Amino acid sequence: MFGMRNVPLLLLVLMQLLHACSALDNGLALTPPMGWMSWQRFRCITDCDTYPDECISEQLFRRSADLLVSEGYADVGYEYVIIDDCWLEWNRDNMTNKLVPDRKRFPRGLNVLADHIHDKGLKFGLYQDFGTKTCAGYPGVIDHMALDAETFAKWDVDYVKLDGCNANLSDMETGYPEFGRLLNETGRPMVYSCSWPAYQSEQPHFESLKRHCNLWRNWADVQDSFQSVMAITDYFAKNQDSMQPHAGPGHWNDPDMLILGNYGLSYDQSKLQMAIWAVLAAPLIMSNDLAKVRPEIKEILQNRDVIAVNQDPLGIQGKRLLIKKKIEVWSRPIEPKINGEYSYAIAFVSRRVDGSPFSITFTLKELSLFNDNGYIVQDLFERNNKMGVFRKDTKFKTRVIPNGVSFYKFTAL
Ligand code: GLA
Repeated sequence: MFGMRNVPLLLLVLMQLLHACSALDNGLALTPPMGWMSWQRFRCITDCDTYPDECISEQLFRRSADLLVSEGYADVGYEYVIIDDCWLEWNRDNMTNKLVPDRKRFPRGLNVLADHIHDKGLKFGLYQDFGTKTCAGYPGVIDHMALDAETFAKWDVDYVKLDGCNANLSDMETGYPEFGRLLNETGRPMVYSCSWPAYQSEQPHFESLKRHCNLWRNWADVQDSFQSVMAITDYFAKNQDSMQPHAGPGHWNDPDMLILGNYGLSYDQSKLQMAIWAVLAAPLIMSNDLAKVRPEIKEILQNRDVIAVNQDPLGIQGKRLLIKKKIEVWSRPIEPKINGEYSYAIAFVSRRVDGSPFSITFTLKELSLFNDNGYIVQDLFERNNKMGVFRKDTKFKTRVIPNGVSFYKFTAL
């Protein structure tokens, strides 16, 4: 039956099977992951005697899990509690080669913590590094990938962030997929966050990224400043034509953590980060001290309308559509789709510094809104937020404060 003539066909089938087996396809992260991670706020604080509430320790992650629930974050979708760097002993176990969590700061090992997080209805994430060492110098996975993947599964990990310090760039394109395959082979579903594009200077290989990773860090680390947030958004805007098409359910571009609740952003700049991250379909991973987030910032982090934009099931990443008079227009197609026309979330972001709020008017055409029946508009940051119906020939006027944002949902009628 399978004569020589059929060899090319057989090869094709085999190749497709191989492709299917090597793909991540873990059914996870169908909307951008939401959660909390230690790095940006707590970095590598390891001195628990001096900083008992801030050091990277079981206690910090237990407390954060508790606060995610008690402060209402879990209710709106934040679910992953992720340990970033600095959780390890400096050396592997010398008998078994296994990774060892710091004996003083995680005295009971990670399963106890994972159980606590799971008992709260949350999920457990862990950081590691593809290279010889993590960015902070703790042992990396490179020579023990299978063992570490198994260990992660035994620790009941649900989310792995694999960083790329101290590694050969040329090994990443094959090594990251290999670690993903090993994670899959454990049989435990784990979201896989990759970092290799953040280390490469050339255009990332997006087809491979989206086949092997649930999310990937594209660029530089976010720092606790408005400049840093805006530099990231500029990078995303500049590269949007190559990046945007590759985001979608199960595979996301990652502009890095939400820094709301820390020292660097004003109230309005906090809204701005939240709005652009929603438009970008970015993972919403906070890094802050959940015990100290001020109520008005918590309200932004828990804004259900904005989160609904971020979590829109279509999973289409938005773009910076245009800039007019230093007001940037960021737009994302979302549900509902009526007669073939999307609804949109549109953020007007001011790069202006002239003190007063700046009034600006757009035709719907300028905003690429072409639905014949028009749109009903809702302000996503205001309580009395109904702004009425805007039809084809009407103009849309908004007022944006310096370094601030106005954010609206245009629901197609
Ligand atoms: C890199 C990553 C950060 C963080 C640190 C930890 O810089 O990009 O997100 O994980 O390493 O050392």
